[in-house]
Amino acid sequence: MLTGLFDTHAHYDARQFDPDRDQVLSALPGQGVELVVDPGCDLASSRKAVELAGRWPFVYAAVGVHPEDCGDWKDGEDVEELRALAARPKVVAIGEIGLDYYWKDNPRELQQRVFRSQLALAVELGLPAIVHDREAHGDCMDIVREFPQARGVFHCFSGSAEMAKELVKLGWMISFTGVLTYKNARKAVEAAQAVPLDRLMIETDSPYMAPVPHRGKRNHSGYVGLICERLAQIKGITPEECSRATLENGRKFFHIQG
Ligand code: NI
Repeated sequence: MLTGLFDTHAHYDARQFDPDRDQVLSALPGQGVELVVDPGCDLASSRKAVELAGRWPFVYAAVGVHPEDCGDWKDGEDVEELRALAARPKVVAIGEIGLDYYWKDNPRELQQRVFRSQLALAVELGLPAIVHDREAHGDCMDIVREFPQARGVFHCFSGSAEMAKELVKLGWMISFTGVLTYKNARKAVEAAQAVPLDRLMIETDSPYMAPVPHRGKRNHSGYVGLICERLAQIKGITPEECSRATLENGRKFFHIQG
């Protein structure tokens, strides 16, 4: 069994874990999981993520408002609340933030304003950003370029190999989910091939995106080893090397001491 795995993106604050959250979390160290980052999607879920980080030694939190959840965004007030939350122990990033043009619930202009406000906050606080980009590659890249001091990760990366290389040049990280294990994952595989090993991280995006052979079921960090194995295969290294490298990359990126 692989050990020392870092699941850099899992939503244990999500309601899908309400029936058995403690049970799922307490089983993770026995499944080789060493660290987990739980990113918030709105203020309530960010508070929950911070609370979980307080209760579980291997869980760290990120705080942020997701583009799908930015409908109630209040300029000023919400940034203040995020700033206060970011000061809590074990908050290691601002996220998840970004643009989602697949779901049409929130106008693009609002999503962009909310993304910029939070990226500015990340820069101000010296924290990395966790970026969600769905069908918004061009606008995400434009906004990222407006903040040359910002550092972050494009999580569940869905862009091209060219875009991945561009992000690497800007000093950003790329993170992959179970999508790498899917049959139709050609684009993600090409992107993973294009990114140097020291810029890669792995994540489950639990409870979503379960890797093969669990596709369609509720995901959890215990499956992150399957993503690690697939990434290792793509990079031509052993799963152990991939686990070590992605753990080290994640620790550095989130400033979590070994
Ligand atoms: Ni997510």
